[in-house]
Amino acid sequence: MPARLGLIGLGFGNKHAGTLQHLENGRLAAVCDLNPDRVKKAAEKYGVPGYGRIEEMLEREKLDGVLLCTPPYVRMPIVEQLASRGLAVFCEKPPAGDLPTARAAKRAFERYPVVNSVGFMYRWMQAADCVKALIAGRPVVVCQITGLWEVLFWAREGRISSDYFFRDRAGGPLVEQGVHLIDVARFILGDEVARVHARGANVIHPLCDSFTTEETIQVSMQWRKGTLGSHVHCWTTHQWIFQVLFAGVDFELTLDLAANQVRGRNNGEIVERTFKDDYYRTELEGFCEAVLKNDPQLIRGNYADACHTLAVAATAMQSIDCGTDLPVPAY
Ligand SMILES: NC(=O)c1ccc[n+]([C@@H]2O[C@H](COP(=O)([O-])OP(=O)(O)OC[C@H]3O[C@@H](n4cnc5c(N)ncnc54)[C@H](O)[C@@H]3O)[C@@H](O)[C@H]2O)c1
Repeated sequence: MPARLGLIGLGFGNKHAGTLQHLENGRLAAVCDLNPDRVKKAAEKYGVPGYGRIEEMLEREKLDGVLLCTPPYVRMPIVEQLASRGLAVFCEKPPAGDLPTARAAKRAFERYPVVNSVGFMYRWMQAADCVKALIAGRPVVVCQITGLWEVLFWAREGRISSDYFFRDRAGGPLVEQGVHLIDVARFILGDEVARVHARGANVIHPLCDSFTTEETIQVSMQWRKGTLGSHVHCWTTHQWIFQVLFAGVDFELTLDLAANQVRGRNNGEIVERTFKDDYYRTELEGFCEAVLKNDPQLIRGNYADACHTLAVAATAMQSIDCGTDLPVPAY
């Protein structure tokens, strides 16, 4: 029997609904959104019941778990509501828009220990496994993260939500999106960021009441095992560069998330591998397997772990505001 999943939030949630159509171990059982048009469209497209209220969906449907794809500022009390009913929760990234909410949700999962996962899909890539295996056990001297995308042009053209213009809604480039790269770097290095010092800039969109986020952020990072590096994340360039470079004494390897590639040199030999995996699918299959077996060990990044990633991004945002180097709190 496949895991029966409800889906809350029908923006990006539609991507998961589409993926579920191809899974053997998971099935979309119902959809829910505050927006009736989105509910109608998805219910018709996927042939499942649609709801405007979460309570109603939970009362009427017999579910094993829920994919929570609301915006980051709509996590609590939904997380608690789901976990307290014993439902497994797949929560889209970032785990929350701010650290107090993330802490509250993490406590809810401690009170109600259901299988839970956060949508950091790059952890599930074969390319990430490849780099992790190549550098295992070797000191990493430099970790250089680059994320350039045209997100704010999309928001200006109405192609995505204007939430992205507001730091208090989407969190800005680092909390909304940079977390993906920070997370996969943490996963590969098996290490935590100890200190951050960040700056923000607005060259294209000046800060004003209707645009409250930095468009470019640069973070200097010191990792606990001594690795140094930085993260530059920009939302106003018509490029898609999403990569993490790892360098050590006898290797320099770039995990190119946009191209699903690993490139560089290892022990004097050229490395160039391109992968074809659909890691969104692998991520959902992994979640469903964990749900069916009730085995949290099958999850590559649970909510508690994702809070460490959020702590790095949120502390970097505090560093922009106060202008100083800050320790990243242990989570
Ligand atoms: N992993 C990825 O690649 C990826 C890509 C895009 C977005 N995301 C994440 O997905 C999340 C949603 O982003 P989006 O772009 O889809 O946003 P969106 O605003 O387009 O969609 C969110 C939907 O949630 C609904 N919603 C909000 N509160 C609700 C509630 N209480 N009950 C029911 N429905 C509710 C809204 O009506 C809206 O339709 C964000 O956290 C974002 O970071 C992840």
